[in-house]
Amino acid sequence: MKRATLFSLESATTEATESIGRRFGRHLRAGDRVALTGELGSGKTTLVRGVAHGMGIDPQEWVSSPTYALLHEYRGPLTLYHFDLYRIRHEAEVLDLGLPEYLRRQEDKTRDHVVVVEWADRMALKFPPGSFYVTIECMVGNDSSELQRRICFGHDEARGADFFDFMERQ
Ligand SMILES: Nc1ncnc2c1ncn2[C@@H]1O[C@H](COP(=O)(O)OP(=O)(O)OP(=O)(O)O)[C@@H](O)[C@H]1O
Ligand SMILES: [Mg+2]
Repeated sequence: MKRATLFSLESATTEATESIGRRFGRHLRAGDRVALTGELGSGKTTLVRGVAHGMGIDPQEWVSSPTYALLHEYRGPLTLYHFDLYRIRHEAEVLDLGLPEYLRRQEDKTRDHVVVVEWADRMALKFPPGSFYVTIECMVGNDSSELQRRICFGHDEARGADFFDFMERQ
């Protein structure tokens, strides 16, 4: 599967990362799947918070969500299932969570939700064609730029290459 980095955006603050997430979230559609990776503390959960907001989910939905949960379910116009695999130790736990079924559900007629998998690289997971791949890189900069991040967006070839035009236009 070809996974191109189609473009990247830089963020210097927590708010900027959240806002990029919001822009992305506004354009996600039922059945979309997102594999989210990036080193510890890079801002993955911050981005997902923005995605939830952009999908029209009430912020109250995620405020009360325990940080240690492996699966967060946020209800809104579309349900967002946010898996966080950081604490997963064995593949069996992924199966217990039903993650492969959540990823596959795109292929049947149940397309009423979006799935984001944080730490998607911790397990060998099969994302369906058309999935998004988002990676956050921490950039080493000078003086006050330790907070600088690069957020890279890509998708496999099943998605039209023009999908991200909206992100670049804004
Ligand atoms: N540009 C930035 N973008 C996102 N977060 C930033 C940025 N600069 C600083 N931060 C801070 O970095 C931390 C990121 O935390 P967050 O929980 O979103 O990361 P994470 O990648 O989900 O962490 P973990 O690997 O533990 O799951 C927050 O404290 C946030 O305020
Ligand atoms: Mg996190």
